[in-house]
Amino acid sequence: MNIELLLEALGQDGFHSGEVLAKQFNMSRAAISKWINKLRNAGYDIHSVPGKGYCFANYVQPFDQPLIRAKLADKLHLILSRETDSTNEDVKQCFKQTEFERILATTEKQTAGRGRRGRVWHSPYAQNIYFSLGLKLDLAISELSGLSLVVGLAIADLLKSKGVPIQLKWPNDIYLEGKKLGGILVELEGAFEPPCNVIIGTGLNVNMPQQAQAIDQAWQSLAEYTGKVINRTELLLELVDQLQLYLTQFCQNGMAEFVEKWPTYDLYHYQKVQLISGEQVTRGINLGINEQGGLRLLTDSGEVELNGGELSLRPE
Ligand code: ATP
Ligand code: BTN
Repeated sequence: MNIELLLEALGQDGFHSGEVLAKQFNMSRAAISKWINKLRNAGYDIHSVPGKGYCFANYVQPFDQPLIRAKLADKLHLILSRETDSTNEDVKQCFKQTEFERILATTEKQTAGRGRRGRVWHSPYAQNIYFSLGLKLDLAISELSGLSLVVGLAIADLLKSKGVPIQLKWPNDIYLEGKKLGGILVELEGAFEPPCNVIIGTGLNVNMPQQAQAIDQAWQSLAEYTGKVINRTELLLELVDQLQLYLTQFCQNGMAEFVEKWPTYDLYHYQKVQLISGEQVTRGINLGINEQGGLRLLTDSGEVELNGGELSLRPE
């Protein structure tokens, strides 16, 4: 059985009867039913309706790969997969093994999707968006400390233009209605001097339903907010365009315009917060960000500016 082809068949609109699938794959209906159960056990949400056949749950919508290729293949080297460990890893491997300087990896499902500090990013099949953009940039790593904020602002502006009021939590979290909608994992490879490889991973909850998900904090999805199942392919294409646009602006003009934009979306703007780094906690009022993408905190002993990958912001 070619699983890719079976998933592709199920991804087409409407129901797919056991009989038709059996003919298509040249096997018995019982064998098809066994394969469907194997897929279910592997986490694929497949409904079966007596007299009609099988279909994915309506929130499962595989990408339109031909459309993605048609729109992006001339600008980016594409790595499109059904399943991978992590799209950030796909891009890193590609940088290692090829000369491509602009790479996009996206997948339907991640088996080892990661957040910061190796935390798990829940990535079920064909419900959300998981993608990583890889760029070789003529900048030093030290110039890129604000990058995850620029990525957050690109996503926030795009979603705001669609009527979705996004909030951003410094340095890498995307929130909606006070709950986590997505996250950004920026990884940098290179030495002190330019160029460097930038790997920008984004996970965004699009159609994932609230029931039966094992995520240990409050989260939200776009479908839940808008009440509609979202076309993932269209949204992915828009996200990639917006991201490339903002990254070009960042590379040309720096952080200034993004520093100005930040307060519109800042989740705890002018609120009392704690900044946690291991055992160490710094308390103060969140004043926003500086031109290096650091967090400005007004503490009892004056204003301090903090940056670094290991910091977590919490409300006081
Ligand atoms: P902080 O970034 O402030 O340190 P965080 O809890 O948001 O805190 P991250 O590393 O940014 O930590 O994100 C990983 C966390 O996000 C996971 O530990 C889990 O709680 C949550 N999470 C995992 N998958 C999803 C998902 N699909 N949607 C929303 N949240 C998720
Ligand atoms: C976070 O909130 O800590 C960041 C989550 C980032 C998840 C995305 S999904 C695509 C890319 N691949 C990964 O393994 N992680 C990022």
